[in-house]
Amino acid sequence: MIITNNVSAQPLTTFGIDVALDTLIQVNSEEDFYYLDQWKDTEIKILGGGSNVLLTQDIHLPVFNINNKGYHIVKDSEDYVLVNIAAGETWHDAVLWAVDNGYGGIENLSLIPGKCGAAPIQNIGAYGIEIKDVLHTVKAYDREHGVIKFFHNQECDFGYRTSNFKTKWKDKYVITDIILQLTKPDHHIINTSYGAISSELEDRGISDPSIKDVSEVVTHIRQSKLPDPKVVGNAGSFFKNPIISKDKFIKLQSSHPDMPNYPAGADVKLAAGWLIDQCGWKGRVIGNTGTYKNQALVIVNHGNATGSEVRAVAQAIQKDVSERFDIKIEPEVNIW
Ligand code: EPU
Repeated sequence: MIITNNVSAQPLTTFGIDVALDTLIQVNSEEDFYYLDQWKDTEIKILGGGSNVLLTQDIHLPVFNINNKGYHIVKDSEDYVLVNIAAGETWHDAVLWAVDNGYGGIENLSLIPGKCGAAPIQNIGAYGIEIKDVLHTVKAYDREHGVIKFFHNQECDFGYRTSNFKTKWKDKYVITDIILQLTKPDHHIINTSYGAISSELEDRGISDPSIKDVSEVVTHIRQSKLPDPKVVGNAGSFFKNPIISKDKFIKLQSSHPDMPNYPAGADVKLAAGWLIDQCGWKGRVIGNTGTYKNQALVIVNHGNATGSEVRAVAQAIQKDVSERFDIKIEPEVNIW
């Protein structure tokens, strides 16, 4: 464990916002999690890859940066493996590791930023797959009792961009590892249901894609639509896609027949990016911030933006969408 004081947060989040952290604590191994006992009665902040956080002020609470590393196979059966991945591993590295070893199930989640420990908290998802589809167990440090606990998939109550770790267990646990159930060769379930994947595969003349093909195609699609945080600060989709009742949807659809929509149980999920785009926000630049030119759902830092500036743009977008469509869009990004 390494503790440093008065640190710039600029390199620690993908938005690249510069605020000061009073205390930064690097957690580098499983043993380090037990040192959290010292802060048992204090509110703390946990930072993984910093890809889903907007910092709007200096942070006086201790910030823990999770950096433990390692992969190991927990179970190797004929058709699948259970692999334990440390929370501090970068998610995309884990995808590449799985693909290189011939393990399937997370190739559609290629290039999602962030670290493995953060992935279950908001149940990351893209291109027809969510981590809950392959997640076997979450290992987490219980701050109150000072022990590491195991949570089976069913206990985590995963939903669209949510889980118990984001709601009722918030601040109680710090994820140390994730255990994924991945398929072995001849048992892969290739998911190309998402239109953009199938058309890109077709363009490449691939009719029977491997997990590597899917990973490469998803990487290509994301690179073409989403800004690279190393070049332009951002936190991916800033808002969640809103879920509305069928009745409300039918009324809206009559005036917007081309509105993208997806079934969500008895309700309907809409594309926040489309709603924002319709309000004229795609690619709009406001001072140092604004929305990305290819995807209105992504708010960007054009350099030196403050968290307050970004938050003001987010609020202006929410207001416009609410006035135009009577729909409240909620941030997916955590605002500190
Ligand atoms: N659209 C527009 N204008 C825009 C953006 C989107 O008209 O500026 C339309 C698109 O044409 C499409 C629809 O809106 O018809 C949906 O857009 P897209 O397919 O790009 O997906 P999304 O709903 O915006 C979600 C996830 C992404 C994930 C993609 C692919 C959320 C909030 N976002 O985006 O996840 O990569 O699907 O599966 O669920 C993230 O969470 O950070 C993230 C990037």
